Amino acid sequence: MEDTRVRLSFQGKEAIFDAEREDATLATYTTSCGEGLYLFGDNTAALSRLHRTHKDRVMLAYMDPPFLTNRVHHHVKRERSEDSQVKITRTKRAAFDDRWDGKAHFLSALGERLVLLRSLLAKEGSVVIHVDPKTSHYVKVLCDEIFGDDAFASEIIWRYRRWPSKTPNFQRVHDVLLRYRKDPKTKPRFNTPYEPLAASTIATWGTQKQRAQVDATGRRSRSTRTAEETPGVPMGDVWDIGVIAPVSRERTGYPSQKPEALLTRLLAALTNPGEIVLDPYAGSGTTLAVAKKMGRAFIGMDQSEVARKTTADRLESLGTRLVPSLRKGAA
Ligand SMILES: C[S@@+](CC[C@H](N)C(=O)[O-])C[C@H]1O[C@@H](n2cnc3c(N)ncnc32)[C@H](O)[C@@H]1O
Repeated sequence: MEDTRVRLSFQGKEAIFDAEREDATLATYTTSCGEGLYLFGDNTAALSRLHRTHKDRVMLAYMDPPFLTNRVHHHVKRERSEDSQVKITRTKRAAFDDRWDGKAHFLSALGERLVLLRSLLAKEGSVVIHVDPKTSHYVKVLCDEIFGDDAFASEIIWRYRRWPSKTPNFQRVHDVLLRYRKDPKTKPRFNTPYEPLAASTIATWGTQKQRAQVDATGRRSRSTRTAEETPGVPMGDVWDIGVIAPVSRERTGYPSQKPEALLTRLLAALTNPGEIVLDPYAGSGTTLAVAKKMGRAFIGMDQSEVARKTTADRLESLGTRLVPSLRKGAA
């Protein structure tokens, strides 16, 4: 039969299906209270390592890779000057390098990780890939191929407010989060989140649940009000969540740090307490910190020493330490 599927074509694509590899330089850390794991080194090696121990076990993988900005991102240190004004010092310390030999290079690197990650997901589990509008359409077609078109679950638009930039264009004020399921034939882990009712709905209907009325011909007539309180409206896929304010206590100084509110929403909807959350691009450790606070098990990976140190400090402030495993690389 003729193959009518749509495929993305780019240099180096074939290699993404054969990326499994070992790397002796990977360093493993466990957390002092036992619910976490941190693999320090390249994440293809780290994901390959987990194939020995975590196949089909991860309920949610959140991936926030570099965004193809073609620059090095630096840690920003904020210090209070003597007159107690917030003085911002840009350190010269590179946190991570986001320079690529073009889009094909970027896509093949991401594709390798997605292929390796897929077999770690539980049947009910899903992966959320956080990208921007410059690459989201390429990444979506790539994911359709790796996970299957029918595994696509959501495109979430994270809408935020920030200082306008000078541009003869509409301001870019959103990121894209693509969610794919491991197995479209299995009921996914999904705890429906709700958002508040619109003021006009409350004015007409109050805060009680409505019941749809259907007549004998199948036509809907005016709904009736029940005695039960409504939890709100099932949440849509456009999320208005603020970026982290420059002086927020949450801010670690790590570049591209995502707000805990975003991860809290994802973890609450897509995992239950005790289930495993994986972040192969852990950065400042936002996913790990949220998982710790919400009673989920977690696995983080990063190859940047600045990221490892930031994550260790962040977890320590939550009462858990990253402890190096005695055998280098043991998982
Ligand atoms: C956009 S940042 C993640 C930010 C994170 N979500 C947070 O809230 O802090 C991307 C991270 O991926 C890491 N990274 C990039 N390529 C990697 C690789 N091949 N292996 C492991 N980590 C990598 C970088 O060091 C960086 O910390």
